Amino acid sequence: MNCCVVGLQWGDEGKGKVVDILAENSDIVVRYGGGANAGHTVIIGDTRFALHLMPSGSVRRGTVCVIANGVVVDPAVLLEEIDGLSEKGIGIDDRLLISENAHVVLDYHKAEDKLREASLGADKIGTTARGIGPCYADKTGRSYAVRMADFRDMDALREKLKKIVAYKNTLFGALYGAEPIDADELYARCRTYADRLVGFVTNTTRFLHESIDDGKNILFEGAQGALLDIDHGTFPFVTSSNSTALGLGPGCGVPAQMVDKFIGLVKAYSTRVGSGPFPTEQDNDIGNLIRERGHEYGTTTGRPRRCGWFDAVAVAYSGRIGGVNEIAMMHLDTLAGMKELKICRAYRIRGEETTFFPCDATDLADAECIYEDMPGWDGDLSQVRDFGDLPKTTQDYVRTIEDIVKIPVTIMGVGPKRSEVIFRG
Ligand code: GDP
Ligand code: IMO
Ligand code: MG
Repeated sequence: MNCCVVGLQWGDEGKGKVVDILAENSDIVVRYGGGANAGHTVIIGDTRFALHLMPSGSVRRGTVCVIANGVVVDPAVLLEEIDGLSEKGIGIDDRLLISENAHVVLDYHKAEDKLREASLGADKIGTTARGIGPCYADKTGRSYAVRMADFRDMDALREKLKKIVAYKNTLFGALYGAEPIDADELYARCRTYADRLVGFVTNTTRFLHESIDDGKNILFEGAQGALLDIDHGTFPFVTSSNSTALGLGPGCGVPAQMVDKFIGLVKAYSTRVGSGPFPTEQDNDIGNLIRERGHEYGTTTGRPRRCGWFDAVAVAYSGRIGGVNEIAMMHLDTLAGMKELKICRAYRIRGEETTFFPCDATDLADAECIYEDMPGWDGDLSQVRDFGDLPKTTQDYVRTIEDIVKIPVTIMGVGPKRSEVIFRG
């Protein structure tokens, strides 16, 4: 059974938790997109893991972890993560594979991300400053790219870095008056990265296809959320990769036909970090309450997340374009205690009603939400393990979303811990 988990909102839906749960029955867990902009939380007992590049299944000792070609790898972050896991008694030395085709995030990418955002002022995207956009730009630009395979030939990499750093220094100096980057220093750091990482570098596409032929169970872990997709999200307030389920094929070379199930992740409400349209946003006491109850602060940057009502128009769109078969809905517990809840079932844009999510930022900024009012529920849901044992109003809330989105909700989160989950038959 091969399964893919993807976010259907603006990221942070709880992918880390669900991947950790599903990884119990997986032989291999694969990250196929994004980079250290991702922050995936896994909580086991009293230990909290915040993973940025390592697949969330890595905390399960038996799983093989693959970082596929679609990921942009920051070696400094990855090594820190490997060491962090090792300090917690989780060794990955004999079970990590990194694609030779994965692109490498280096200092000049992170510098450019910060310099560009600062220069944009109020028009900034609100990136995570992890160098993601500049690295993917070098990937598609081709001439100044560094891939994991380059760590195999350090003499050639030294020459390559000289050329790239000269180019970046000219550019950043002229555009931003930035201090030059020292190519020798960068090369010295790359030597350390190569020494520690080159042994993991391989052809992951071949490995995945051989594993499929051997009947292994593979779990594919999406990063970000569909509405941040470079092609299908709320451009330009998006990330630089295909974060819908559509990113799977290019991200690891395994076509959707070889995946048995796509599970789309949502929260029982909506959140967004960074700039960009957010039709159901509650920039008021309601949003503040959700933020405090749900601990809605960024796993990667610590920024407070913008919070709002569940947007069924948006989720119907991302579920449909991603070919999602089932939905996992996290944070039902977070909404407990709120008297009334709202689910957005349509938009009115300049007088016209629509149920099809428009990606266009102007249309979304003009979108007036048409809500379904729902009664709330009280009490601690964290011990509930059967859908039928949830309060009637919680069940109605889930069913109303299923009716609008037209995808069944099969997994529900009732707390942050591994065990705080409901599977619905
Ligand atoms: P990801 O990026 O999709 O992996 O999500 P993050 O880890 O960035 O953010 C999700 C947050 O919600 C984390 O702090 C999780 O521990 C937490 N979480 C996940 N599922 C639930 C749930 O069902 N209830 C509650 N209260 N917290 C949850
Ligand atoms: P996970 O995998 C939430 C957002 C940033 C910003 C935009 C572009 O944890 O769900 P980038 O650094 O990618 O150029 O930033 O995308 N963003 C995320 N928001 N969760 C994420 O990942 C995100 N990754 C990027 O906040 O608005
Ligand atoms: Mg996150």
